Amino acid sequence: SAFTSVSAFAQDYPTQPITIVVPFSAGGPTDTVTRLVAAAMSEDLGQQVVVQNVGGAGGTLGAGQVAAANPDGYTLLLHHIGMSTAPALYASLPFDPMKDFEPIGLVTEVPMTIVARKDFQPETLEDLIAYVKENGENVTYANAGIGAASQLCGLLFMDALDVKMTEVPYQGTGPAMTDLLGGQIDMMCDQTTNTTSQIKAGEIKAYAVTTPERIAVLPDVPTLAEGGLENFNLAIWHGLYAPAGTDKAIIERLTKSLQTALADENVGNSFAELGTYPVPADQATPEALAQKLEGQIGLWGEVIKAAGVSAQ
Ligand code: MLT
Repeated sequence: SAFTSVSAFAQDYPTQPITIVVPFSAGGPTDTVTRLVAAAMSEDLGQQVVVQNVGGAGGTLGAGQVAAANPDGYTLLLHHIGMSTAPALYASLPFDPMKDFEPIGLVTEVPMTIVARKDFQPETLEDLIAYVKENGENVTYANAGIGAASQLCGLLFMDALDVKMTEVPYQGTGPAMTDLLGGQIDMMCDQTTNTTSQIKAGEIKAYAVTTPERIAVLPDVPTLAEGGLENFNLAIWHGLYAPAGTDKAIIERLTKSLQTALADENVGNSFAELGTYPVPADQATPEALAQKLEGQIGLWGEVIKAAGVSAQ
């Protein structure tokens, strides 16, 4: 029967390469995290785990593609906080984050940094705040589109300062970083997984981290609270998903594999160098991700509404 063939199929899983869709460009923060996890999962599963970058529409294009994919365990999605902000930012979304996916587990939580091109005038966080208030729309800031972490951070920053800057959207902050390094763009708020090495090399300026505490890899970078923006607390959580309808046995196998990958010493060390850390095993579960997603959809729905942002 169809039932026994599905079960037998799940038992042998995986018998072919698995694709993890990253809904942003290659070379950016989500891509970096996913490639590290994919390599370790690949070792555990005995099959290649391939990363496919499907950038566009702030991560909603790639997420929509996975929502519509065959739920056979061979197409997965690694997405971040954008899964929870998109419902408030888009009037009509081509997928339902709660209904169209099977959560596999949380992956990591990444602090953000407010950075600028090397020769941008402001030197300190205080200077930056004054400069942005004075220059408003003459300041350009890069983001990865509506629904991106960089867009959310920019939105909160502009709301806190009560000012508008000029947004320049990319398909991911990987290519945005290239333009920041080239001096074509003034500013960006991006995850440490994409900014730490450039900050340390002095290739870009860093003004602040978005977490309540300073972070170990960037001890000289102040928190936004130190600059007077007290209520700004943003860490970018990431989760791994399969399309809804994926066999439970496959989800269980993937959860186990994710937990193994996150416990891998190489993954832990690489994450630490990038200013982040793998979530503990009890967070790398379908239940923890489902709970996080639901709570965050509620939270960001309120915040985005309060910031007066209208849905696109
Ligand atoms: C990326 O991977 O390019 C970023 O996560 C985009 C973003 O959300 O800012």
